[in-house]
Amino acid sequence: MLKAKDVKDEEGMTRRRILKTACIAGAGAAVLISGLKGKADASGKTYPQVKVVNVKDIKPGKPVKFDYPLVGRKNILINCGCNAEGGIGTDKSIVAYSSFCTHLGCGVDMDKESGMLVCECHQSVYDPKQSGKVVEGPAPCSLPMVSLEVDKNGDIYAVGVAGLIYGLRNNLLEGEGVK
Ligand code: FES
Repeated sequence: MLKAKDVKDEEGMTRRRILKTACIAGAGAAVLISGLKGKADASGKTYPQVKVVNVKDIKPGKPVKFDYPLVGRKNILINCGCNAEGGIGTDKSIVAYSSFCTHLGCGVDMDKESGMLVCECHQSVYDPKQSGKVVEGPAPCSLPMVSLEVDKNGDIYAVGVAGLIYGLRNNLLEGEGVK
């Protein structure tokens, strides 16, 4: 018969296994960040191309918040001020990530002093210059990264998401598309 501690351990193991699977899926997808546009996922759906902001409207230290790929799936776009992995723009410094922490799904926002992305619940810290990698706290894996493109007028578009958004089995199912 299982004792209380054993049950807790079994539940902990299951949860760890689920998180690990989600992280592995995210890590694999991160490699494909530049090749998401127009690609169908396992369900046959494709990521939409949605305008987020114009480069000239991004202010230092002021993140741009936007929904993508569906309504309510919040993201944060920032200019890191220096070259960032997967960044776009003249300095390759503009990046965007899901705002849902990979630990338990709380909101992530930019810390103005450090420029890091910090979770409001248990203070996991993600580095936006390193593909959203966890540098502190209990989060099990990197933040899903939004794939961005910029046109000749400086308009920035979201064109995909590398990694599974917290709590989802598919980023494109069960929701209303962003217009
Ligand atoms: S929900 Fe973000 S660290 Fe726990």
